[in-house]
Amino acid sequence: MTPAPPHDHGGSAAPGAANPPRSWSLPLWQSLQSIGRDPQTSGYRRYSFTEADSACRDWFFKAAAQRNLRADCDRNGNLWAWWDVSDNSRAIVTGSHLDSVPDGGGFDGPLGVVCAFAAIDLLKERGLMPVRPLGVVAFIEEEGARFGVACLGSRLLTGVITPDAARALTDSGGVSLAAAMAAAGLDPQAIGPDPELVASIAGYVELHIEQGSALDGMGAAVGVAESIWPHGRWRLDFTGRADHAGTTRLADRRDPMLPYAATVLAARAAAAAHQSLATFGKVVAEPGGANAICAAVHAWLDARAPDESSLNRLVSRVIGAAQGSATEHGVQVSTRRESFTPVVDFDRDLRDRAVGALAARGLAAPVLPTGAGHDAGVLAARLPTAMLFVRNPSGVSHSPAEHAEPADCEAGLQALAAVLEELACR
Ligand code: GLV
Ligand code: MN
Ligand code: MN
Repeated sequence: MTPAPPHDHGGSAAPGAANPPRSWSLPLWQSLQSIGRDPQTSGYRRYSFTEADSACRDWFFKAAAQRNLRADCDRNGNLWAWWDVSDNSRAIVTGSHLDSVPDGGGFDGPLGVVCAFAAIDLLKERGLMPVRPLGVVAFIEEEGARFGVACLGSRLLTGVITPDAARALTDSGGVSLAAAMAAAGLDPQAIGPDPELVASIAGYVELHIEQGSALDGMGAAVGVAESIWPHGRWRLDFTGRADHAGTTRLADRRDPMLPYAATVLAARAAAAAHQSLATFGKVVAEPGGANAICAAVHAWLDARAPDESSLNRLVSRVIGAAQGSATEHGVQVSTRRESFTPVVDFDRDLRDRAVGALAARGLAAPVLPTGAGHDAGVLAARLPTAMLFVRNPSGVSHSPAEHAEPADCEAGLQALAAVLEELACR
């Protein structure tokens, strides 16, 4: 399903409507729609440092140029556009990401970047001037779809991952991050923390489609984030022995698929027991012959829980099940944590200011937690951050079926503009 573009109040006015609010920027949204979309699935495949990514980068720089914003790419591949002011006080930054999961929806990430530029349009149309620099950012590799570590751009920026560890990450084809960056014209030796840039930011506000349907249940178009569940990814490698599917007796097999399958079921049971979430969404069987017992199974566990002790118990239980079942089937298993984000409690003052700014404009925005990860969650460890969520009626995300109604995207845009006015224009 193709994501329906939010409508443009600036385009065709309803008959008889006097001065309709010029708000959601349809051309800006539309100009992003075809980039990286798979024609078969209608899902997005915008992976870092690929052709689709390069087209997204061009789109970002064009959007910045159209608004006379100073734009650059930082040492880590994150894109920035600045509405500079003569006062060099610390900046307010808004944005999100443009990369996607495999066959992702059109809203997860891009909605926040489009709304960031469109909110600047709104402030300008209202004759408002920021009293501190106002930035738009698009973080690289937020989904970790190519190199495995979610929020890689914000982790590098804030020093949560070392440059060496990041450079050594590889994609499924064995291409390292260093090689991919170099091929995209960036210097992989320059990556790493940028404390000066981080220190120059007073607050970060990310608008995002909700990745659940809580707002729909509350009848609210827009919400404000309270917290993010702690979460992470673990890689499990089951190594057995390749053999013939038609001649190897069951008793003689060392089939890595069996402990893998048992681990998937154990993860489901453990998640239910801990009121948590555990998902195996990616698995690679090697060498992958239909008539052979495979030599190895590589699988990725995504685990999330309301608190870190529940998360630790959940993961220990899953790994324990993997080890027990591997032993039973004569298979080796090794496990490695690939990324981890501790619990995030968003800055209370910033959150209250956001809620207050929305309430002052008659926008009731409930405060709610989420299980989804975001760059705002990584940045929260270094600077005050806040998030706005836009209603997702089905709650579906990380899927081509992800959808937000145009009126709700517009409500999100209006909300973001209100929060930016409060933070950057006063
Ligand atoms: C990002 O969308 C995540 O929560 O994995
Ligand atoms: Mn996502
Ligand atoms: Mn996202």
